[in-house]
Amino acid sequence: MTPMTVLRTRAQLREFRASLPPHSRVGFVPTMGALHEGHLSLARQSLRDCDVTIVSIFVNPTQFAPHEDLSKYPRPLERDLELLKSAGVHAVFVPSVEEMYPKDASTFVVEEQVSGPLCGEFRPGHFRGVATVVTKLFNLVQPHRAYFGQKDAQQCAVLERVVRDLEIPVQLIRGETVRENDGLAMSSRNVYLSSEERKKAVKISESLSRVIDAYRLGERRVAELEKAGRDYLEADGSFRIQYLEVRDLETLQRAEMIPSGGAKLIVAIAAYLGTTRLIDNAVLN
Ligand code: PAF
Repeated sequence: MTPMTVLRTRAQLREFRASLPPHSRVGFVPTMGALHEGHLSLARQSLRDCDVTIVSIFVNPTQFAPHEDLSKYPRPLERDLELLKSAGVHAVFVPSVEEMYPKDASTFVVEEQVSGPLCGEFRPGHFRGVATVVTKLFNLVQPHRAYFGQKDAQQCAVLERVVRDLEIPVQLIRGETVRENDGLAMSSRNVYLSSEERKKAVKISESLSRVIDAYRLGERRVAELEKAGRDYLEADGSFRIQYLEVRDLETLQRAEMIPSGGAKLIVAIAAYLGTTRLIDNAVLN
């Protein structure tokens, strides 16, 4: 098995990066740990595409609002390191909060369009935290490619804008959403679900299928498509929907009618099941 280097400081990371042969292609998978098959499939994709794969594990405080789950976010570090080692990852960057943020940090990266709707409405400041930490990580790791899960479709779209607008020399790759056998999108937050809730959670992806079915049957009015998904989920009575919307995959803009041809669209959902907030999305066309 390839030895895996665990890097805890920015200095160690820089040293590791500088020690790589000059033409090595570096792949990077940023994570917050509590790894599942979704993360591992991104790491494997990077291992296939690149010479060296670096994964980061950092529960980034600036992307959590004060009332969110920062303190209870799962942190099974030893298990995560074992999984990455078995996958053949070359290095893992596991910085502390103090290592990543000077006490008086006062510079942030703010994307002002794509981060507005959907999760942006319900989690103010979230994408500012994501864009800031990912930009910092890109500066430290200097990857050729970076891999993000399509489950966080809005995060992908925001980061694509940041990379484009700030001329960051990295290619972003969207990895497909990995699902449990019943269709529930894998997420580190699924561990919060009780066994009763876990059985119900499949309805999130089923509601997306309702929208896709309606689209395939010829419905092109966006409000009607969204209603098909909402009605399905609301009939259960256990979910509190924050949004269920059809949007452009890249710009996240919303139209009244699905335009014929052209842009790819997604149907995206965020809903609470008990105290757990779940998100998912599917490509519509
Ligand atoms: O998707 C995540 O796990 C996080 O938002 C990321 C990209 C690692 C930034 O903290």
